[in-house]
Amino acid sequence: MNPMAEQWNDKIKAGNEHVYDMLSGLGREIYFPKEGILSQSAEATAHAKTYNATIGIATENGGPMHLNVIQDKLSAYNPKDLYGYAPPAGKPELRAAWREKMIRENPSLENKAFGNPIATNALTHGLSIVADLFADAGDAVVYPDKNWENYELTFGIRRGATIVNYELFTADMKFNADAFRNALFAQKEAGKAIVPLNFPNNPTGYTPSVEEGNQIISVLLEAAEAGINLVVVTDDAYFGLFFEDSLHESLFGKLADLHPRILPIKIDGATKEEFVWGFRVGFITFASDNADILSGLEQKTMGIIRATISSGPHPSQTFVLEALKASEFEAQKHEKFVIMKGRANKVKDLLNSGKYEGVWTYYPFNSGYFMCLKLNEGIPAEQLRQHLLREYGVGTIALGETDLRIAFSCIAEENLEDLFDLVYKGAKEVQGS
Ligand SMILES: Cc1ncc(COP(=O)(O)O)c(C=O)c1O
Repeated sequence: MNPMAEQWNDKIKAGNEHVYDMLSGLGREIYFPKEGILSQSAEATAHAKTYNATIGIATENGGPMHLNVIQDKLSAYNPKDLYGYAPPAGKPELRAAWREKMIRENPSLENKAFGNPIATNALTHGLSIVADLFADAGDAVVYPDKNWENYELTFGIRRGATIVNYELFTADMKFNADAFRNALFAQKEAGKAIVPLNFPNNPTGYTPSVEEGNQIISVLLEAAEAGINLVVVTDDAYFGLFFEDSLHESLFGKLADLHPRILPIKIDGATKEEFVWGFRVGFITFASDNADILSGLEQKTMGIIRATISSGPHPSQTFVLEALKASEFEAQKHEKFVIMKGRANKVKDLLNSGKYEGVWTYYPFNSGYFMCLKLNEGIPAEQLRQHLLREYGVGTIALGETDLRIAFSCIAEENLEDLFDLVYKGAKEVQGS
């Protein structure tokens, strides 16, 4: 093993041996080269006052060489903030701004020990870093039956982890703490589980109540006390879009410092929160009260980034940073929040109006971009999806036998009634066929 990897492993082990035990084989092997090109370049940037002949970019007139066909369209930005490589862990100013935002929006994080957010190529990349660092073949990844399908590829296919699903809801549509507990305790012998928590949830649009959130935390604590090492990953993709009286914070805050066998990791980013899906700016943040563990995990994360994408997109990081710093940022975000909340409320009013009886119920939703219908028996979701598409030009997502996901995020409020009328009409037709 590389001596640098070994050195960080020793420090992590000395800080908390459970965290060391959680690392995958790759997680143990990976390191960020200290004496490589990047660190020599960084040293030269600080000290080479005559000529800096280290960096793998082209320069001209004291800045990065660039083409005016690009710069003319991006003229609001300084070339130095666009063209050169962003550091592998992201622009330092952006990382600091995101950390500050995180604390502002999650008061439970104040006084908690957690690292500096490391920039990723958006949330999928953050999740895949978690998979690389912590998932080995056969490790259990425990998440609900209502989930974002990409977890399967990220953890299952790519890393060979075993997917363990539990029922998200009880029969009366509350968080199914018993199912969650059973799924975790089934890993007692293995002694390890990776636990993605995604609220607001894709596909249901569900965020737990404060009480349900506490239940989740106490189940995790119980499992840790029983000797199971838990890599708990809050996938906060839709953070902030809380339309009702649910948790309005990430569970990451309550997970930090909870138990030595729990390693909390926050995956979040600008993608959905700031409506910049194609920018690819996200973050991975570790919580630990041990500085060596935070540094070791940061080094290993940078190692994975260096080995896969080398560094994230510089222009996007600049765009997001400038937005975060802008005085109009909060007001503009709030404007969009009000639109999204208006759509969510409208959908709920429609569904509760008594207009659509006998074809569906719906899963609890109070946040995010989506809601999910649970179709009655005799209305197969995929059949309805195809029928709606063919007969009415309406696109929806079929999930499993019974569920139809509807993204109210992309339908104007005034069109929602027409949309649901059509889905209802289609459901009646499939039911009668
Ligand atoms: C729950 C969840 N996590 C992560 C992502 C991925 O986000 P990104 O586009 O930033 O990779 C999505 C995107 O649909 C999502 O729904």
